Amino acid sequence: MATPVAAQTVTSDTPDAATANPANWPSARTPAAITDLATENRISALIARMTLEQRVGQLVQADISAISPEDLRTYPLGSILAGGNSGPYGNERATAADWDRLVGEFRAVSLEPREKGVAIPIIFGVDAVHGHNNIPGATVFPHNIGLGAAHDPALIRRIAEVTAVEIAGSGIEWTFAPTLAVPQDPRWGRTYEGYSSDPQIVARYGKEMVLGLQGKLEGGVQIPADRVAATAKHFLADGGTLGGDDQGDAQISERELIDIHAAGYVTAIDAGALTVMASFSSWNGVKNHGNHSLLTDALKGALGFQGFTVGDWNAHGQVPGCTNTDCPSAIMAGLDMFMAPDSWKGLYETTLAQARSGAITQARLNDAVRRILRVKFKLGLMDTPPMQRRDHAAVGAPAHLAVAREAVAKSLVLLKNEGSVLPIKPGAKVLVAGPAADSMAIQSGGWTVSWQGTDVTHDDFRNGQTIWDGLNSAVTQAGGSATLSADGSFDQTPDVAIVVFGETPYAEYQGDVPTLDYQPSNPSDLALLKSLKAKGIPVVSVFLSGRPMFTSPEINASDAFVAAWLPGSQGAGVADVLIAGADGKSPRDFTGTLSFPWPRDAKAPIGRPLFPLGYGQSYARPAQFGTLSEDPGMDMAEALNVASFFGAGRALAPWVLKVEDAGGRRDVASAPIESAGGLVSVRSVDVRAQEDAKALTWTGNGNALIEGPAADLSHQLAEGGSLAIEWRIDSVGSGPVTLGFAGRTVDMTERLKAAPKGEVSSLAIPLQCFADAGANLSQMDTPMFLSAGEGLSLALLSARIAPVVRTSDCPAFAD
Ligand code: BGC
Ligand code: BGC
Repeated sequence: MATPVAAQTVTSDTPDAATANPANWPSARTPAAITDLATENRISALIARMTLEQRVGQLVQADISAISPEDLRTYPLGSILAGGNSGPYGNERATAADWDRLVGEFRAVSLEPREKGVAIPIIFGVDAVHGHNNIPGATVFPHNIGLGAAHDPALIRRIAEVTAVEIAGSGIEWTFAPTLAVPQDPRWGRTYEGYSSDPQIVARYGKEMVLGLQGKLEGGVQIPADRVAATAKHFLADGGTLGGDDQGDAQISERELIDIHAAGYVTAIDAGALTVMASFSSWNGVKNHGNHSLLTDALKGALGFQGFTVGDWNAHGQVPGCTNTDCPSAIMAGLDMFMAPDSWKGLYETTLAQARSGAITQARLNDAVRRILRVKFKLGLMDTPPMQRRDHAAVGAPAHLAVAREAVAKSLVLLKNEGSVLPIKPGAKVLVAGPAADSMAIQSGGWTVSWQGTDVTHDDFRNGQTIWDGLNSAVTQAGGSATLSADGSFDQTPDVAIVVFGETPYAEYQGDVPTLDYQPSNPSDLALLKSLKAKGIPVVSVFLSGRPMFTSPEINASDAFVAAWLPGSQGAGVADVLIAGADGKSPRDFTGTLSFPWPRDAKAPIGRPLFPLGYGQSYARPAQFGTLSEDPGMDMAEALNVASFFGAGRALAPWVLKVEDAGGRRDVASAPIESAGGLVSVRSVDVRAQEDAKALTWTGNGNALIEGPAADLSHQLAEGGSLAIEWRIDSVGSGPVTLGFAGRTVDMTERLKAAPKGEVSSLAIPLQCFADAGANLSQMDTPMFLSAGEGLSLALLSARIAPVVRTSDCPAFAD
């Protein structure tokens, strides 16, 4: 029998490559307890009474940054979300009480009596993906990759319960979690959102997460006020895309799709997951949001899913033939609710017209509405009055923090411990160094307070500790002394150094990287390890990352090496394992083991790993190995695309953006940040897309520069390339502005004065000009050096070497 195929065109050569055959799929079933006959009958009665507008409205979800409660009087939408950069009343740092109030305002308007039809309460969703990470002071758990390393399903259940209590405590009933991706290529920026590259671990955890968040479903009974709806996401094979591209294409067989990527959905659906989010990505060239065989035949057919599917952030707009405000084919493919953050109004109108014209059938529309109402009933939202979720004091409760601290300790994986340098002996004099030692942002990663998580500070988590805080208090308690020194300098030679370093925060595509090599973007860490070792100091590395990385040089330069992932707000969990108490034993031994293979070189996907999945030493099970090969296994210069310096809101590896003034220089690892003397400041801003630019503002003399290892641009020079910069000049100020490249300097003052203000403009200077002025382009290490005084303000969008389109005259060089 032929399977129904997606309505839109299948672009692949073999049309069947993107058609799932339900007969091949395992069977799962939403528990019958998701609903009951009496509820289904009530839903039927409601659907019969609802106006067409009200039914269509149920299918649309808007973001709080683009809708106000009053809008719901005119547009009876079914759902509201708060995306990663959206906080109540424009405040990213809102309290539980603020969230509760905002949700209440939307809900109240949605429930106002209607002239015609029925008032249906909104369902409110948020990304609580490692604890209720939206609220400062909440319990922030390790990101999923660390939980995977804990190999502890019972712990996962407790984490999910605590997370649910905190989400519900702020008046919210729905979280967009857990991520059930099974990442196969760690270059993917969302690798850390996945528990493991092993489908078995994801399957075991998916079930526990859903049971912990929602509780066990019972027929005809609402889930309790301290439980929330889960979202199994992103359906399907978001972790299987070619090259680890975010929103990319999984070019894999149906077998692989099922065996690897669907594993977590089977258990999550069996456990009663009330919602499933469709993935931005494609399967064999077809966008999942438009794939009927996946969303309907496989998910709602074979896998027996009875809840509702929600789209991802305007992802429907990527389906061929669709735009953000027009996409009947996604609904016909089986999407029940559009995530239409800012596009909701136009989308509501076109969807309404399509429901009138029959382009969206009544049967499909009513099925989607039924599924959404089913979940609303289950959450008690249809009760009169709706079930109240509110316990502000639950957010960041001490018992919750203790669970997070335990999770941190259990997530640590010991890769090396030469000479038993760990645990740190009682009474030791310890130097704690490295850029991440005292950074709440780096240890928490993306999806913390804001989308990218770059601006998190200690003040955001007063009941949390940085890794330094935890080490300091444990070392002191054991009769020793600890000193914090980010750059590793010291007056008194320590007995041992603990160096904490790693990836700076990122989320989604902003975290996609070209290779697994850690070093190119972070060269100074290796230098720090080596300099400490050269002074005869034993070195313990604590490595923070959202993925396994090629770190053999750093491992060689360390006596002990701990993979600590992205531990979240309870840094003390690190000390619990690393620091021995007065009795000479640490409170906990290492129990974590890798949930991803650890790479031997920079290549991905990982072939023969250096440490296999499941690897991890402990004090009880030590292991030894010799010096590791430091060969990245590929031509890094080529892989890193040395000719792109800045784009998508950040310096591109191996390049680093820095700001400096007379007070000193600082790397722009996170933003906002300012130069040491406060004269040059940096913020993330939106110009054409979210956080796609960095705003640089001078309040006095200073520089913004991009630096990296010497790159050979002879090739680009021979091909006639230009230095191309795209920026938006907002104001120029009084002082002169100069631009340096490869050590040569051009006066920009007049050019910038002439540039249109507040609009994107670009600049291209032929490389030949710099070469003629004496620059050595075979060893270029500074592709941008902007010097200015008070009043210059601009947003930098991109800096790269572009092919010359037309020749332009060389500017005058300053020297
Ligand atoms: C992400 C989802 C997230 C949604 C809402 C999307 O960009 O892919 O994981 O749930 O935004 O914030
Ligand atoms: C939102 C996120 C979303 C992302 C997608 C951000 O502004 O806050 O929730 O995932 O945009 O582009």
